[in-house]
Amino acid sequence: MQKSDNFSSKNFFWGAATSSYQVEGGNFNDWSEWEVSPARISDLEKRGLKKEDFISGRACDHYNFFKKDFDITKSLGHNAHRFSIEWSRIQPIKGEFNQQELFHYKEVVRSLRDRGIEPFVTLWHWPVPLWIRDLGGWESKETIKYFEEYVGRVVSEFPEVRFWITLNEPEIYTFNSYLRGIWPPQKKSIFSFLKIFGNLIKAHKMAYWKIHSISKAAQVGIAKNNSYFDGSPLLSRLVNYFWNEYFLDKIKNQQDFIGLNYYFHNRIKNFAFNQNENKEVSDTGWEIYPEGLYKVLLKLKKYNKPIFITENGIADAKDEKRAGFIRSHIEAMVKAASEGADVRGYFYWSLVDNFEWAAGFAPRFGLVEIDYKTLERKIRPSAYEYKKIIEGFNGQ
Ligand code: FCB
Repeated sequence: MQKSDNFSSKNFFWGAATSSYQVEGGNFNDWSEWEVSPARISDLEKRGLKKEDFISGRACDHYNFFKKDFDITKSLGHNAHRFSIEWSRIQPIKGEFNQQELFHYKEVVRSLRDRGIEPFVTLWHWPVPLWIRDLGGWESKETIKYFEEYVGRVVSEFPEVRFWITLNEPEIYTFNSYLRGIWPPQKKSIFSFLKIFGNLIKAHKMAYWKIHSISKAAQVGIAKNNSYFDGSPLLSRLVNYFWNEYFLDKIKNQQDFIGLNYYFHNRIKNFAFNQNENKEVSDTGWEIYPEGLYKVLLKLKKYNKPIFITENGIADAKDEKRAGFIRSHIEAMVKAASEGADVRGYFYWSLVDNFEWAAGFAPRFGLVEIDYKTLERKIRPSAYEYKKIIEGFNGQ
């Protein structure tokens, strides 16, 4: 791999990412209610699936294990870590802020800092408190106002955090929850989809100004899921615009960096999507296509912002493909950087195996394997390969 000091840990953030709902356990919000709803359970039963595999429950109990998990993070040579604060913990009830939970996340941030790890904090990674759900969730304009209030309070409690990610993948959330109807609240409405998209743009902008009014040193962005579309030239350009660029264009004056989550290549042929060759796929059937990361990074150059790859990962229970996946994607990133993409960080998804939303516990994305019965953590060989890559950039 081409070596450059730009990627040494002095100048570059190397780490992994998680999200509160997927790893913490013990969350109560719209997702946790949906998982145990009679309709969801009967749907799983009809498909012959065990409901326990689809109820997040205690997940990895990262809520209690975070110090142990961050010891692993440190031992793997990471100098940064992305995690999210769970809105429903901080404000389980309208108008109230839970001091104990704020304290918990202060401990989380302190534990990272003590280990020399830079925190990248996501403020919203999909679930909402029940009282927000009851207002109509992101369909309601009031939610924007309450989100701003939540953001303001959290940010003022964490002066030591520099990197804030307001929203995780607004397009994936809106698409799955309001258009495809596969995630709570399982709506299938183009009107709701468009309305929510608009509201999330507004929410980000308000949060951006709010954060800057509190913290002068803060750097603010979103984590954007961008895919590489090719094939039919006209259609792929159109889809690229709506999926990859529309949101970023709308917030171009309200972001200090771009967070990029890259997972997908999507070849469009004869008006059909996902006509990929799929030479190599992950356990979830997602094509392994590092070239797409290179292409997507080059397309982001026009925004003239620093880029952090806030997610990139593979479900691979046997850990046979993960090391190669990480290496090839980092190579693609280095190539894009040599052609002018201003990449400043790479966060592998995920630090530990976790609860993969509607797909439950089966997909294994972790650098660290979790035994869900004993909660034992076992570092996978690929995690050490990732460590070696980082060390290589550090000239070790
Ligand atoms: C992304 C999500 C993340 C995780 C990965 C596999 O779309 O942001 O929470 O589920 O996919």
